Amino acid sequence: MSYKAGQSATIPNAIFKAMGPPGSPSIERDLAATGIAATQIRRMNLNESPYPPSAQAIAAMQAACSTVNYYPDPKWRDLVAAISGETGIAENRIVLGNGSDELIVNAGKIALNPGDEMLVPVPSFPGYDKSAEINQAALVRVPVRQDGAPDVDAMAAAITDKTRIVYCATPNNPTGGLIGTAELERLSQAVPASALFIVDEAYYEFGRHAGGDDHLQMLQARQGPWVSFRTFSKAFGLAGIRVGYALCGSDDLANAFQQARSVFNVNAVAQAAALAALRDPDHTQWILTQTAEERRRLDAGLRRLGCRPFPSVGNFIAAATDRPTADIVAALAARGIMISRLMAPGYQDYLRITVSTADDTDALLAALSDILAA
Ligand SMILES: Cc1ncc(COP(=O)(O)O)c(C=O)c1O
Repeated sequence: MSYKAGQSATIPNAIFKAMGPPGSPSIERDLAATGIAATQIRRMNLNESPYPPSAQAIAAMQAACSTVNYYPDPKWRDLVAAISGETGIAENRIVLGNGSDELIVNAGKIALNPGDEMLVPVPSFPGYDKSAEINQAALVRVPVRQDGAPDVDAMAAAITDKTRIVYCATPNNPTGGLIGTAELERLSQAVPASALFIVDEAYYEFGRHAGGDDHLQMLQARQGPWVSFRTFSKAFGLAGIRVGYALCGSDDLANAFQQARSVFNVNAVAQAAALAALRDPDHTQWILTQTAEERRRLDAGLRRLGCRPFPSVGNFIAAATDRPTADIVAALAARGIMISRLMAPGYQDYLRITVSTADDTDALLAALSDILAA
């Protein structure tokens, strides 16, 4: 049998052949058609911070640039020491990732084999699905509660002897629901030691700001494997620099995350930025306070327009609408406003909007009002 140049029946692996390109081609197409300059686009689709990072982080990045002829510290020593100081987790149980996205991918490599089951709340972060798909594991989806928090009891009931990963995101993206420690403990106790319990805390700082619990003490008493993922992408305003971290429940698990990564996975500029951001808590608090105020305004505005938002504590709000969400997303994109919509089965009526600046909130609500009235 012969193949066209560059084509093969076996390479790449069929799983990868079946996957589409990352990103959202339709939004990108809609935006390109507007001709609006990239700097004028209102980015309310990726749960980024609309505010720049700490001035100290910017200065640290600039300083780090002058030594990028050298490879970065592959053990990220200064940053790990600082994270250990903040969290109380031993340094050898902290593993950094190129964003927590890398850790999500690596968790799949570490824990999943073909035919295994991975339990996720739905709707939740789509990155989980991909890690199951790549490892040929089956996704078991458990709908969130009415308050948008993962349904810990329904998840506990869905565990089988094939379950190898149980994901619980708190606050959950895209619904913004928060889990209390006592509830999370119920789920933790139901997850057998044969499965990895992953608490995705990408929005941890927002949850704490809203009065939520810190779960680490409870998790450290868990009998089976567990890991918490956190990130500098959200509350620290460093999404573009790509630093996330895993707080691991055992030396064995930390070692597995170490083996699964590439050696220089977090670059020197990123390490400097994250360290400086951690040392400037006032800036983080300022971002959290601004976000809470704009979230309140956005939630109220969406309700006035007849949308039905989940009560979020994150830097985003998911809201149901009676109009086709694809049309709304496209109409907003035509006005230079990017938002997203939920694709998860059962939640196609929902838009997800990142909490941004006051100016962005006003522009979004005015545009949405027009679109819904048309
Ligand atoms: C719940 C959740 N987990 C993980 C991530 C990945 O974040 P990052 O790779 O930027 O750390 C995101 C990003 O939006 C998220 O919403």
